[in-house]
Amino acid sequence: MPLSPQTSPSQTPLTTASTPGTPPLIAGSQGQVIEKASGQSALAGVSLKPQHYKDVLGASPRAAQAADFFEVHAENYFGQGGAPHRYLTAIRAHHALSIHGVGLSLGGAGPLSQGHLARLRALIDRYEPMLVSEHLAWCSHDGVYFNDLLPVPLTEEALETVALHVDQTQAALGRQILIENPSNYLAFADSVIPEAEFLSALVQRTGCGLLLDINNVAVSAFNVGSDAQAYLQAVDHQAVGEIHLAGHAVDERGGQRLKIDDHGSAPSDEVWALYASYVAMAGGRPTLVEWDKDVPDHAVLVREAGKARAIMRAQASGQVDLMTRSHAATV
Ligand SMILES: [Fe+2]
Repeated sequence: MPLSPQTSPSQTPLTTASTPGTPPLIAGSQGQVIEKASGQSALAGVSLKPQHYKDVLGASPRAAQAADFFEVHAENYFGQGGAPHRYLTAIRAHHALSIHGVGLSLGGAGPLSQGHLARLRALIDRYEPMLVSEHLAWCSHDGVYFNDLLPVPLTEEALETVALHVDQTQAALGRQILIENPSNYLAFADSVIPEAEFLSALVQRTGCGLLLDINNVAVSAFNVGSDAQAYLQAVDHQAVGEIHLAGHAVDERGGQRLKIDDHGSAPSDEVWALYASYVAMAGGRPTLVEWDKDVPDHAVLVREAGKARAIMRAQASGQVDLMTRSHAATV
């Protein structure tokens, strides 16, 4: 996912033991959020975009509840004040929030930016989100920031570095974070650990959770020839605390086709089918529909989130086989 400029309290342990098929309990200082997240996994959220601030605040109470939570990119709120914080404060008063970082560079070889960590901690203390997440990626080196999430070779050396950085981040934030699987456009010749295994090892070493981006799984499978369904089966289900769904584009040049994780459209039928099969296998998780480019009306995002909620509710009520077949038939 390319990074765009405007795509932009006290801390308690964030997970407790969970039974198989049940997501980790998500804790924060907001009691109602804890209960909602742990008692019912079928939370469906949308990206909070600045062009939708007034829609969200002006919606009728019923319409406003159409999204169970909102997710923001942390770095867009690193300023101290101004309109972004005014709107986010008003929205946070009535909605659960997820904070998604894109600039920590957990996969970088160099040390983490202490300034970045301090700003992230201040944002988390200010808004008390139910979820905090970052990426298995790097995006800065020697103080230079790149406008993209860059890939990490899946080696033991990289695992040690990322685990150290996740440990440092969780210590600085005083809470667990979720790590998102990347969208891949190439496979490193030096990679020796399957990605799902690499992420499981990260969970074991650090106690982090996972953010499973199913669009990224689909994009990677197409681009590097991996098996999306096998990836979903290999993921550490108990560690998955959130799911992302998004749209992708297809780039075709010189007879080569690549799927680009551009977040510029609704999730594809293939992604919905993979999502339905994952929910059937592992149960529901708080699910976010990401949309960062060519952003449509807020109602469109809410409608897509409603599809995710319907799939999770169907699974919870035992109708998931029907939903899975229905979505699979559209691929
Ligand atoms: Fe994502």
